[in-house]
Amino acid sequence: MNLQEVLELVQLRRFERDPAQRLLNRVHTPDDFRAIAKRKLPRAVFDYVDGGADEEIAMQANRDAFKRRKLRPHLLRDVSVTDLTGELFGNPFQVPIGLAPTGYTRMMHPTGEVSSCLAAMVKGIPYVLSTMGTTTVEDVAATGHPNLWFQLYVTSDRRLSDPLIDRAAAAGYKALEITIDTVVSGRRVRDMRNGLTIPPQLSIATILDIATRPQYWINMLRHPAIGFANFGALSPEEVKSASSTRIGTLFDQTLNWTDIESMRKRWSGPLLLKGPIGPADARRAIEAGVDGFHLSNHGGRQLDRCAATIDLLGPLRAGVGPEVPIVIDSGVRHGADIAVSIALGADMAFIGRSYVYAVAAAGQRGVEHAITLLTDQLRSVMQLSGVTTLAELRQQGPELCGEPG
Ligand SMILES: Cc1cc2nc3c(=O)[nH]c(=O)nc-3n(C[C@H](O)[C@H](O)[C@H](O)COP(=O)(O)O)c2cc1C
Repeated sequence: MNLQEVLELVQLRRFERDPAQRLLNRVHTPDDFRAIAKRKLPRAVFDYVDGGADEEIAMQANRDAFKRRKLRPHLLRDVSVTDLTGELFGNPFQVPIGLAPTGYTRMMHPTGEVSSCLAAMVKGIPYVLSTMGTTTVEDVAATGHPNLWFQLYVTSDRRLSDPLIDRAAAAGYKALEITIDTVVSGRRVRDMRNGLTIPPQLSIATILDIATRPQYWINMLRHPAIGFANFGALSPEEVKSASSTRIGTLFDQTLNWTDIESMRKRWSGPLLLKGPIGPADARRAIEAGVDGFHLSNHGGRQLDRCAATIDLLGPLRAGVGPEVPIVIDSGVRHGADIAVSIALGADMAFIGRSYVYAVAAAGQRGVEHAITLLTDQLRSVMQLSGVTTLAELRQQGPELCGEPG
């Protein structure tokens, strides 16, 4: 065999000149981004994303509960044509995935929120901006994304949170979701051990970190400082005093149904509650004028003994009936998790860490790649299970994966 014949047999891969593409070529599951983010980010920043509350029981339970759901496929069906598109609150989506709200995303990548939002826009899926976002409501809206949602933390001093509702409306956000599981911040032990401050401040540990992650710090210093971008109406001193007055916390610990009713009056678009909501609270919420639910245990970052959300989904769907919009998150790492979520009654599944690792690793292209991988995985799981549309997946749900195990 001569050299020519050997070369014909061995198909040498063309050398990829673009380093970003070289990196993406090595990422085959969304979780691969986690390892890259771990290498790139200072430890305190990585742990802020990666960690959960207290003993991280809920965070692990979210994954375990998804893994317990096994599929019983239907075979010998034509699955050559699939359709993953749908519509929620009158807005179309290309695939039933959304980017959940994450605070301080510019700490993970200098253009964190805008890069993630642009990736969501390219992929035709919703992006939720957090109250604790490090980019303003208006700057995110300036991307032109047609399906933006805003996540609201209700603050003790309403001068911080009330104007955000009006700003989101004025900027054209399509839905408002009020996070109701954060009346106090979860006890994140990793952050405590790392002495995490936002933005990261110089300490002995930070200086040591700069030596091992110089590129991270160079990138950060090239971009505007990170801060509470959305509390801009108040000076930093006022924000500080607002967060330490009344009952001494930023978040309103007195949050109750009357507040939900008054925010319902203030916001005319679709209104969701985000948290680990049970059927009784959900019915009460509907009476208060809430339109839908973002079923979430905050990725295990709040109540550490909280049940896995996928286990809460069936009862919630049964409690509110087939029409009320429900999106779910917490522990979604694979397209199979999305398939199971739809099968058990969710309209869409949202991701938190899976896109934050990706934006930390490779910016907008990273997030696009993560969404592509999840989409490919979802399509493949659907085809191998014998279903081709989301409606069919929902319809076959109980037979396909009704019982865990
Ligand atoms: C780094 C980070 C920051 C977050 N910040 C917020 C926030 O500001 N508001 C909120 O409602 N949820 C926040 N969450 C929770 C997410 O919206 C979502 O519920 C959770 O990440 C889903 O779990 P997963 O990370 O396992 O996908 C945050 C999550 C992470 C990982």
